[in-house]
Amino acid sequence: MRVPPWLTFLFSVILQALPTLSDTNVQDTSGLSGIAANWDTKPSNWDGNDPCGDKWMGIICTGDRVTSIRLSSLGLSGTLSGDIQSLTELMYIDLSYNKELSGSLPASIGTLSKLQNLILVGCSFSGEIPKEIGQLSNLIFLSLNSNKFTGTIPPSLGSLSKLYWFDLADNQLTGGLPIFDGTNPGLDNLTNTKHFHFGMNQLSGTIPRQIFNSDMKLIHLYDQPNSPAHNCVKLLF
Ligand SMILES: *[C@@H]1O[C@H](CO)[C@@H](O)[C@H](O)[C@H]1NC(C)=O
Repeated sequence: MRVPPWLTFLFSVILQALPTLSDTNVQDTSGLSGIAANWDTKPSNWDGNDPCGDKWMGIICTGDRVTSIRLSSLGLSGTLSGDIQSLTELMYIDLSYNKELSGSLPASIGTLSKLQNLILVGCSFSGEIPKEIGQLSNLIFLSLNSNKFTGTIPPSLGSLSKLYWFDLADNQLTGGLPIFDGTNPGLDNLTNTKHFHFGMNQLSGTIPRQIFNSDMKLIHLYDQPNSPAHNCVKLLF
């Protein structure tokens, strides 16, 4: 049987179109590829150009947009690339317990305005905590504990008005706890934060009494054992 030329033509058009028929937004795909390019090994099935359609490990999509990255405890190594800013619909990032993930966090993470969960516990991120994290106005859960962050706690984090869980414990942070100074916000502005954990750092000074102001819904504050502040906290419970 002879195949009509128009049918051959139709098939070739469809075959050419196939590789570009992706269920994933192009910007999200290139963002994830950029992130993976900075890791020594890619998660197992991160191949091709359709993270949503091909169900890339740890990637959750809503429609054609990537909304979650969950890659805990996979032995990932390398850095977190600024390409993360391409993933503008991200609500959830969990890269926890990948001890070989290191380097500083990209400041551009502060542009991910939908982000609700940033979970980086148990990696080896270093440098200062980007003050831009304070722009994440939908953030509920911030877990940067057990890394190698240095420098002071950015006062901008006091702008995270929806924050519920705030964990900076077990880093190398220095300085005091920032409080509202008349211009800049401080941790006393975090009236919805119920868990503050910042022990095992090199923080100095006392815990400002503003942290215990009547607007705060604080239910758990964990600081360094044996410090005078710790004893004061104990008295409150
Ligand atoms: C921070 O708290 C102070 C004092 O409670 C308040 O006057 C100020 O407006 C707050 N700032 C922000 C950004 O919420």
